[in-house]
This record gives sequence, C-alpha cells and structure tokens, in this order.
Amino acid sequence: MSQANGHDDRTLPPSSAEEPSGAFEPPETTPTPTLVPTPTPTPVYSPRAPDARTRELVDAALARLDLEARVRLLTGSGFWRTAAEPAIGLREMVLCDGPAGVRGERFDEREPSASLPCPTALAASWDEELVERLGGLLAIEARRKHVDVVLGPTVNLQRSPYAGRHFECYSEEPLLSGRIGAALVRGIQAGGVAATVKHFTANDSETERYSVDVRMCERTLREIHLAPFEEIVRAGGVWALMAAYNSVNGITMTESPLLETPLRNEWGFDGLVVSDWFATRSTEGAGRAELDLAMPGPGPDRPWGAALVAAVRADLVAEEAVERKVRRLLLLAARVGALPAIAPPPAPARPVPDPAALLRESAAAGMVLLRDTGTALPLAPDTLRRVAVLGPNADTPRIQGGGSATVVPPYAISPLAGLRAALGPDVAVTHAVGARIRHRLPAVTGADVHDPKSGEPGLWVRFIGPGGELLHEELRGGGRLLWLDDPIVARAVAIEAVGVLRVRADGPHRIGVAGVGLFRLLADGVPLVDDDLVTEDPLGGILTPPERWAVLELTAGREVELHLRHEFAAERPGTGFVLGVDPPPVHEDADLAHAVAVAADADVAVVVVGSTEESDSEGRDRSHLRLPGRQDELVRRVAAVNPNTVVVVNSGSPVLLPWRADVAAILVAWFPGQEFGAALADVLLGRSEPGGRLPMTWPEREDDPAVLSTTPIAGRLDYAEGIHIGYRGWARAGATPAYPFGHGLGWTTWEHVGIETAASGADFVATVTMRNTGPRAGRQLLQAYLSRAEGTVERPALWLAGYTWASAPAGAEVTVDLPIPARAFEHWSAEAGCRETEPGRYTLRVGASSADLPLTATLEVDPGPRP
Ligand code: BGC
Repeated sequence: MSQANGHDDRTLPPSSAEEPSGAFEPPETTPTPTLVPTPTPTPVYSPRAPDARTRELVDAALARLDLEARVRLLTGSGFWRTAAEPAIGLREMVLCDGPAGVRGERFDEREPSASLPCPTALAASWDEELVERLGGLLAIEARRKHVDVVLGPTVNLQRSPYAGRHFECYSEEPLLSGRIGAALVRGIQAGGVAATVKHFTANDSETERYSVDVRMCERTLREIHLAPFEEIVRAGGVWALMAAYNSVNGITMTESPLLETPLRNEWGFDGLVVSDWFATRSTEGAGRAELDLAMPGPGPDRPWGAALVAAVRADLVAEEAVERKVRRLLLLAARVGALPAIAPPPAPARPVPDPAALLRESAAAGMVLLRDTGTALPLAPDTLRRVAVLGPNADTPRIQGGGSATVVPPYAISPLAGLRAALGPDVAVTHAVGARIRHRLPAVTGADVHDPKSGEPGLWVRFIGPGGELLHEELRGGGRLLWLDDPIVARAVAIEAVGVLRVRADGPHRIGVAGVGLFRLLADGVPLVDDDLVTEDPLGGILTPPERWAVLELTAGREVELHLRHEFAAERPGTGFVLGVDPPPVHEDADLAHAVAVAADADVAVVVVGSTEESDSEGRDRSHLRLPGRQDELVRRVAAVNPNTVVVVNSGSPVLLPWRADVAAILVAWFPGQEFGAALADVLLGRSEPGGRLPMTWPEREDDPAVLSTTPIAGRLDYAEGIHIGYRGWARAGATPAYPFGHGLGWTTWEHVGIETAASGADFVATVTMRNTGPRAGRQLLQAYLSRAEGTVERPALWLAGYTWASAPAGAEVTVDLPIPARAFEHWSAEAGCRETEPGRYTLRVGASSADLPLTATLEVDPGPRP
C-alpha cells in the first residue's frame, strides 16, 4: 500500500520502509489491474453475544419442544406479540414501531411516546455519537412501554424524492445510511432492547408496495441496496431484521435466498428475521426460506401454524428449517430477557438525564441552512420590533411523517410558540396562516367536543357486545381512535362515540368519518353517514382509511350532538376510526392577502411552509414535489414585501423551491419531532448552529434528469440507474440540482487549508487542515469522496468514502484526521462473487459538499495481498 497525494498533487515519501521503492511513480500506461479479493471482516459489535453456555441452554430448551409447539412460536400471538411457551419459561415478546419513537402496544393520548426527529433529520446530523444517544432514549421508551423489540431503523435508500417513506429513511448514500443506522442500533441494544433493521431489501418506494418486483443487477444489489444492512449487521450487531413486502429479481423477500446468502452465511447474522406485517405469503416457500417469524398473528388466513406442521410432516419443509427458526427466536428471547430461566434479564437502559433537551439538541443538529444572505439571520431580539410568523405549518406543525412511524407525542412545540417564547415580551410576534394545505377530515379534539353528560372535553365511547350489552365505557380525548389487540374490542361487535360539537364559525361544515366497517353518524338525530367502508389493503384501515362525510350549514355558538356507531367484523386484530369536522373553508385570497399585510409590517417574516401527513406517508408515493396548496405563492408574495424573509421548510423530503433566489434564508427543519419550535428558535436566534447537511440531493425541477420514478411498469420497477444512485447519478448526468448532497451552511465560514494522506495498513488517513474564517466558533462537516478515472471497472463519478466533523473558535486553525477505510476502494465483482479492489490511482477529494471539494489528493492502491 502506498500513497501519493497533496492539495496540489505533490508526492510524499513512503510511510514505511517495507514499501517497494518506485511504487509512487505513476505507471507509463495503465496496466490491466490484478483484482484483489477482499477478506470478509468479522462482526465487531455485540453487547450481548450469546456465550456457549446460553447457546447450549437454548438448544436444551428447543429439544423439549415437539413440532407443534415449535411451529406455534413462529407466528405472532397478536398484532404485536409473539407466543409464550410456559414449558420452557418463555414469555411473550412485544414488537413495536418504530424508527422515530416507540409506540408501544397502546399508542394514543393516554400513553404518549417521545417523538424524535424523523430519520432523515438524524442522518442530516451526520453525527453518530448523537444518534447513539437517541438510540439510548428509544431503549428507555421501549422498556417503559414493555417493548422488547423496536421495529427500526429503516435503512432503505432515498432513491427517489417521490417515495412516500422518504422521511423514514436516512439517505440516498449507503455509507451514511449504514453508519447512522448502526449507531442507532448500538444505542437501542445497549439498553437491552432489540432493534430491527428494515425493510430487507429495496423497499425504497410505496407504489404497489405489497407486490412490486424490483429488478437490479447483482452489483447494484450488493454495493448499494444491501450495503447499509451489511454495515448494521456487522458493525451494529443488530439482533433482528425485517423482510420486506416487495420482491427482488422475481422472488418475494420473505422467501428470498438473500436471507441465507449473504445475510446469514456471509455476514454472520444470528438474529431473528421477522416478516413485515402480512408479508408472509406461503407455507412452504416461506417455511423453507430463512424467515423466522410471521407477523402479525393469529388468524385463520395466516400461512404457517397447522399448515406448516403438515408441510413438515409431508417432507415439503425440512424439520431442521423449523428448528433453526425456533433457535433464533429463543436466542432473541434470551437477549431481551424473555427467557429468564436461561439468560439473566438485560441490564437497565442507561438513563438519559433530560430527554427533552436531547430531543431539542437533535432537532437543531439536523436542521439544514440551505441559503443565507446574512441580512436576516441569526435573529437578534434586541434589534427587532416585530416578527411575522406565517404559513400553514407555523401554528400547526408537522413533527413526524405518516404511517407506522407515527407516534402520539406528549406535546408538540410549534414554531409560533417556540419563537414567541425565545423572542421574549419586547418583540411583537404576529401570525397569519396564509395558505391552507390539508384535505382529509381533521379529527375533532377535546377543544371541539365534550361529553354530553359530564361536560368534560372529549368523546364518550361505549363498547357494545353481541347481545347489545354494554361491555365498557370511557372518556377519550379526541376523535382519532385505534384499538389493536384490545381485549374489550375482541369481545365487542360495535363501538359508539358521542360528543357535543361546539360550533365556532358560521358556514358549511364537513362532518364525517374515516375507517373500515359499518358507520352510522347522526348530528342532532339527522343521519349524515350510513355506509359500509371497505379497503383492499390489509393496513389501509390504519394508514389511509376511506372517508365519508356530509356538509351541514351551521352557525357559530350552536351546539350539535354527534352520535357515531361503528360495527365491525369479528376475527380482526382491532379496529379504529377518525371522527372529523372540517370548519368552513376560508376565503383563500383574503387569507393570503392578510398574511402579506402582516409580513409587510414586520422587521422579519418567518414563513413556515411544508408538507403534511397526507403528502409524506407510508402507503403511497408522492404525486408531485411541489409544496401543497398555494404555499409557493405565499412565499413569493411575502418576499416581495419583506426583504428579510426567512423560509422554514417543514417537510420530510425534498420539495421544489422555485422562489429560492428571492428570499434571505432557507432552513430545512424536516419533521423534527416534539421539540420542533424550541429547536427552531435555538437555530434562528443563533443559540445553536444549524447542524445539518443534506443527506440527499435536492432537485430544481421535477423533470431533472436524475430524479427517478417510483412507478412500476407491469409490476416491475427497474433500477436502471444501477450503482449511480443519488448524487452519483446527478454527477454522471452532468446535471445541477437546486442543492447538492452534503450541502449545508453554519453560522461561520471556513477555509479548507490543506490535506495530507498516509497509509495505515490497508486503510488511509487524510489529515485535513481547516481555518474558521468567520466571526464565531463553529463546527464543519468534512466529506471525502473517491473517484477513479482509470481502470476497467465501471465506477460512479464520485462516491462518499468517509466524513468527520471539525470544530474551531473564530479565526483558529484546526487539523483533523479523516479515515478512508480500505473498503471504500472495493467494488462487487459478479464474476468472482466477492468484493475486490482494483489496484491503481484513486482521486480523493475533500470539502463541504459533493459539489464543493477544494482539497485533492491521489491515493495509490497497490496490488498484492492485503492484510
Ligand atoms: C410497515 C413496517 C411496520 C409494520 C408494523 C408495516 O406496514 O411496513 O415498517 O413495522 O407495518 O407496523
């Protein structure tokens, strides 16, 4: 191994006497390189790797179970639970979502969960230490809610900004996704709770999500789509993995040979493979595959159970396959303390002294300052008289994306509340919505309805049994209700909800329900809905249930009694509905004009625009990349009357910013979790740096050449881009995005002074010197990319090889080491069936984003045996 390098491509002397002399001279002609197979590294992290004794005891427990007992363990006992086996002291294990907070089995206003910044925001922090601490918070939440297995992280790639679950994934870059995901896993599992890396694999979009067949070549699969999973298995030591709904190259993932090779055989994964919910599709195919647990359960239509026992008896599934599955399930149980007779319970999760402070710090750490002309930010309260806080998300923020990643938080601080508190009593904060963007029925809240008998805020809910008898009744906080695996609902045939609506405005109100099953809704005895609502999607009733509503003309001050009866089929794991009321539509032109007038009268206008749970959600892809409603018009008109317009983008995925050159600053806040407003104020007032750097490319237009479609053709989605995903594809197409991968500004400025490189075994280290040239202390992300002009193997135009942070006081110089691991040079060889390294010269470039790389070095990778 040798190196030639330098800001100006100088050649440095060899670092070791053993280096063959002359190895630094570039060859006259490029010889055909010898490809060097790379040794497979062994797993490095496993806080509770089962010792030989535990494995023996697990085997002994297994030996005591007959085939029926073993197979019974392989299907859930409920929506979120595995089955118990008292004969061996195995208790049920609870598996719950998810990546941005732990729901628990009951996730409603009675048992709220801490809401973390969405995964995209975590990746935008590029900060593994911070993410590991957040994993620790998830472990605490899981233990508090009696959850053994957290269903996250989601490490599918942000292949396209149209993807509905984009906000739930980390990045378009496999390296960043793997490193951030592994950090979260380490944090969760150090608290004695299993993490579940999902969705294995290529579940990168939602259109036809249960059936789409994703097609790609082996190299793309290995280098791009399997890479984050590999990192999280090897370096994160993850204990569970979820097999996705989709197929890859013709085989549905719950039956895929990839579960065996590379997952178990090459990467050494000894954890549990759980199906995505309802993704196990066959008795035999899934039985033979290395899938261990079919979720959810139980139910007459579940493919395992008695059918799997019969398949084993008929020699269609090997008994050893079942044995392997159960052994892995027992091993997981031993790890999380569900087999106390065999393994001691895990140590308690490490306490997080101030969870709210951690959530606030991490929300700020993910915020990306895309643009700053320096005229409006940071906000200085002592120089400001009036600040306008505008936009649909200012008072109604979107703190998280839609779908199974959604939790019910204890509170959510809005931008308006956060800025009001931070600016203090001497600054007048004015607010106007300006543009409305929600279309589905909003659930009634305790502020809208009260119990007719007691007058308490909320809805009175009654559970009715098969003979019409009252099983149970209770007061609930609002109109969004969901019961899964609830014993009362299991005995009930109907649920009734009653509440008195206090009307606040004159005009037509949309009043109705969303759900699956029979619904009868009366308003003061007048029928509004009487319908049997159905959906094909097994999770459709939870994700985007069908809606029915009627319009009632009402006057302010009136009280209307709403009575809803919902009947549902027996044999279902649960039910739920939304009882919603939409107030009279606003006059959009007047609303917009009002916001513009408020902006014109302020020193600074902060416009909080964004998306909603309707546009960024599991279950469907986005139909366009524009901000919903008239938000673009709102920003344009505000910017026209106020030069100090600061736009806060509250969205989980990239949106088009057609006005981006006309505003003073743009800050992307993502879906930042419950501490949104406090963290936003910290950043806008300059108390925290905007710590984020883009983990994906932001397109300028929908028809930019590297923006990929998520629409399958005849059931297939062809990953024709191959290894050129994300910024690699943009560079290859020679296209310029609105903002490149890795971009983000801080409150100070930096000069990239110089770079030196040295070999360190098979790895390299780049030593980078930076100078803080701005007015205050700061922190800057250094990104290192490789590229290779020569060689016989197709490579991306550039690819991320490493990153690190540098910090320095104002005016100071700092030198940091940036490791470039040997693995960064490797590619997957389909011919050889392994990773190989092509010897020769690679160009290393270091800087502040994929499009701003002022430092350059040449690295020479030798052929020959690697350590
Ligand atoms: C999602 C998973 C989730 C599961 C359980 C599925 O629809 O794809 O991510 O963990 O539901 O909620």
